Amino acid sequence: MNFTLSNKPLTNVKADCLVVALPDKGDLPESTRLADEALGGLIKKLQKSGDLLGKNAHTVMIPTPDQPWDRLLVVGTGSDKSRTTATFHKALIAMTGQLKEGAAKHALVALHDTPLTGDDTASSESAKLSLIGRTLEDQLYSFNSFKSEKPASRKLNKITVTASAAGKSQKDAFQLGLATGRGMNFTKDLGNTPPNICHPIWLAEQAKTLAKNHEAIKTEILDEKQMEKLGMNTILAVGKGSTQPPRFIIMEYRGGKAKDKPHVLVGKGITFDTGGISLKPGEGMDEMKYDMGGSASVLGAMQVIAEVKPKINVVAVIAAAENMPDGGASRPGDIVTTMAGLTVEILNTDAEGRLVLCDALTYVKRYDPASVVDLATLTGACIIALGHHASAVFSNDEGLSKELLAAGERAGDRAWPMPLWDDYQNLLDSNFADMQNIGGRAAGSITAACFLSRFAKDYRWAHLDIAGTAWNSGKAKGSTGRPVPLLVDYLMSHVGK
Ligand code: BES
Ligand code: MN
Ligand code: ZN
Repeated sequence: MNFTLSNKPLTNVKADCLVVALPDKGDLPESTRLADEALGGLIKKLQKSGDLLGKNAHTVMIPTPDQPWDRLLVVGTGSDKSRTTATFHKALIAMTGQLKEGAAKHALVALHDTPLTGDDTASSESAKLSLIGRTLEDQLYSFNSFKSEKPASRKLNKITVTASAAGKSQKDAFQLGLATGRGMNFTKDLGNTPPNICHPIWLAEQAKTLAKNHEAIKTEILDEKQMEKLGMNTILAVGKGSTQPPRFIIMEYRGGKAKDKPHVLVGKGITFDTGGISLKPGEGMDEMKYDMGGSASVLGAMQVIAEVKPKINVVAVIAAAENMPDGGASRPGDIVTTMAGLTVEILNTDAEGRLVLCDALTYVKRYDPASVVDLATLTGACIIALGHHASAVFSNDEGLSKELLAAGERAGDRAWPMPLWDDYQNLLDSNFADMQNIGGRAAGSITAACFLSRFAKDYRWAHLDIAGTAWNSGKAKGSTGRPVPLLVDYLMSHVGK
């Protein structure tokens, strides 16, 4: 797809589809007004006749032969008062859906002057251009690598997005949006790749390729022997039941000053989660290929950072392993010593995510991080608590938690805070070791986070449980690319600070 930003008058852009916004009441945005004039009052006429209502995310495609544009796509944008980032995002998704199915080759998207609610940053033109760029890339995604018959190629091949000016701030915002969309698509590719291909070594190769394509990124991969030397026994314990060996992936991006403390991302990279000896039920087990969703979002965010090159330092690590039940697998009752020296009684081998993450959280201490954010499809209980709308945020630092929540809000990739009170910690008491790896049915996401918190005491840390947000089940089964937008917004908010 060819994307461009333009501040030329609408009628000067030759496109075969013009996209404009229609609010359900009140004044039309400038672009819509100009389009209406150019089309001889067509939009207002159809509004009056009740054919165009402006309900948010409602779209109507109108052929307009013999006009500057062959067709007009009217996107409902609801009322000015209730048009948040989230509702505007829904309208953009509907718009892209129409464009990708339609006959137009070149769409001219004139939505930059549709007002949004929220503070100055959230409602700025830059925020809109970024969201438009991201949503276009994200929603034009398809995954056909494993279909022998590829779908007919799409007509649409060029999209021009309007802006009030084509200055540096507009261009940067639009490019950041496009890069974020591409990062999400990389994340989706990783999550959708079948687990017979996407195993720990393959995941490590993806990180190496990223480093090869982007000079700004350096990658290092630790194998079992190196992990053993470091005492990463819990990651190794999880990987032991598989013929695919675990890997520890390290990526460094140094765009800031040498003395700037890095922001650290940690990803859960379970390339398939059978549950191990505590075997999961068969139904829907195929979906556990996305148990590397945390690491996929880390790789997606790193790709965005590598493309945009902000002046910050970012370190990303991924604990990659496959959780399988063979003769070498950990048993319920096994006790292992973590890299931190604490002992863990593995009572349920299906609570493996926290086992790989705890060693990763210990490892990243060496970076003296500004913050550590781990991303993990950690618990089914998180889906019960928050469904598929919000990622859960747990943190040992109020400020960090607020930053992540605000980033999610701005990016239209929301998260919601969960408690990490000490009251929950004793649910992890073990009769035989320093702790056990499960806390019972109640508060399953919280006890999982409590487990992690024991290894993250030395720095500002947050844990995002993305079990509900990283994946769509049902008809639209597949990886969502979340929470790449949240992560990118969070990291970019540290530029120049
Ligand atoms: N990867 C799963 C969590 C999960 C479940 C993610 C469903 C997405 C959808 C994790 O490793 C797991 O199995 N967690 C257990 C923990 C339990 C054994 C304490 C769970 O949630 O059931
Ligand atoms: Mn599991
Ligand atoms: Zn898992």
